[in-house]
Amino acid sequence: MRCVSTTDIGAQILTAIRRIILLAALCAALFTAVAQPAAPDVTPEPPACDDSAALSAQVAQLYLSLSAVRNGDADALGALYEVGARYQAMALDCGYLPSDINTLVINITDVDRVLEVLDMLNGDPLRGQLLYDAQEPAGAGDKLGCSGCHAPGEVAPITVGTWTRWDEERSQEERFATYDFQRYAVESILLPWDYFVAGYPEYTMPDFYHEKLSYQDLADLVAYLESQDQLP
Ligand code: HEC
Repeated sequence: MRCVSTTDIGAQILTAIRRIILLAALCAALFTAVAQPAAPDVTPEPPACDDSAALSAQVAQLYLSLSAVRNGDADALGALYEVGARYQAMALDCGYLPSDINTLVINITDVDRVLEVLDMLNGDPLRGQLLYDAQEPAGAGDKLGCSGCHAPGEVAPITVGTWTRWDEERSQEERFATYDFQRYAVESILLPWDYFVAGYPEYTMPDFYHEKLSYQDLADLVAYLESQDQLP
């Protein structure tokens, strides 16, 4: 009869336990791989804005994909963030205006859409001046350099009389026939390279302000410029 020592039995039991643990881990991994819903789609095909059934389906899909995001899963969280940002842009593109719209950084240069939002806000010329003079940061956190360029003797038309020049000169130009001051100012700030005031350097005013300003900042800046109605 083969004599089996107690140490041998102990080693065998240990190996068996190790195998069981390994098998369980494998099963668990396989199960999560199969059971886990697909990762959020980072490039959802946007449905038409007026197709409410498709929009609801899209929202349901988003809720489903939320369950794919487990704690500490950096990739899934990144994808979710991306999806959220895209859905937010889609809702805004479809005309949704959240109640905190004034604090949102504009991020678009579609002047018509921006003007629609500004119609709902009241511009504060005093705060506009603080922003313009870099005494207060704008929505994205940066201070603006407007007054540096728009001071007497600098590269840009002087701030004083901005409204008056609109009223007496710019508004007489054919291309501004359908404009009011607000549209002119907003376009000057968001799309500065669409039109250059004659006699001033072109492509000099930065074209990134849509990424710096919140809607309220823009309303305040426009109100400040509108108050520049000094006589020439
Ligand atoms: C680096 C210099 C520079 C900075 C900074 C700058 N601008 Fe300008 N801006 C210009 C120049 C140059 C022009 C004239 C040429 C043109 O039309 O682009 C101009 C034109 C304008 C006009 C049209 C003025 C008119 O008399 O019709 C407005 C309005 C304006 N800027 C507003 C702003 C505001 C608001 C800011 C800050 C958010 C700003 N600018 C920052 C250089 C600058």
